[in-house]
Amino acid sequence: MKAIKQLFDNNRSWAQSIKTSDPDFFEKLANQQSPEYLWIGCSDSRVPANQIIGLLPGEVFVHRNVANMVVHTDFNCLSVLQYAVDVLKVKYVLVVGHYGCGGVRAAFENGDNGLIDNWLRNVKDVQFRYQSELAALDDDDARVDRLCELNVVSQVANVCHTTIVQNAWARGQKLSVHGWCYSLRDGLLRDLECAVFGPDQISDAYRIG
Ligand code: CO
Repeated sequence: MKAIKQLFDNNRSWAQSIKTSDPDFFEKLANQQSPEYLWIGCSDSRVPANQIIGLLPGEVFVHRNVANMVVHTDFNCLSVLQYAVDVLKVKYVLVVGHYGCGGVRAAFENGDNGLIDNWLRNVKDVQFRYQSELAALDDDDARVDRLCELNVVSQVANVCHTTIVQNAWARGQKLSVHGWCYSLRDGLLRDLECAVFGPDQISDAYRIG
């Protein structure tokens, strides 16, 4: 239980340090949140949203799952996206993968990991789509890292294909979707330059209206 008690000790000193620098901080936040960003990232403990982009509580809405997936029928992720876009009216959706992602690697390696392999089938779909590009790389480490990037690009597209994002654009709401990849080695984010700013960047097959 010592490990758990430590967390409460940490929490008290964290709350106290925030109050020391801004006495009204928690009171202001308790009344409302108005984040401009939705972060969709990996559950990996080394990729914490707020710390990486230097934002305080209240400044980024967060959804994390294994391998930062946006699956068309995942009501957990879709509910977060809908609340963020329709109610909080975030201006930016950030899909953030990371190099050396264990989920992406597990999908790539074809092992037997139980139930989670069904979730990772969505990464496999990305691997299958880009198999010739991946085959041309030097080794499996390079292939996994490239698959981490390609997975982000694919999930950015999935965000844009939702009715949620397309309806927001249709009613004139300003919203862009960005794809980034984080390096565990140096703590830096890389912009994959696959940002989408409106429906004209979406394939006709997926476009609503
Ligand atoms: Co990961």
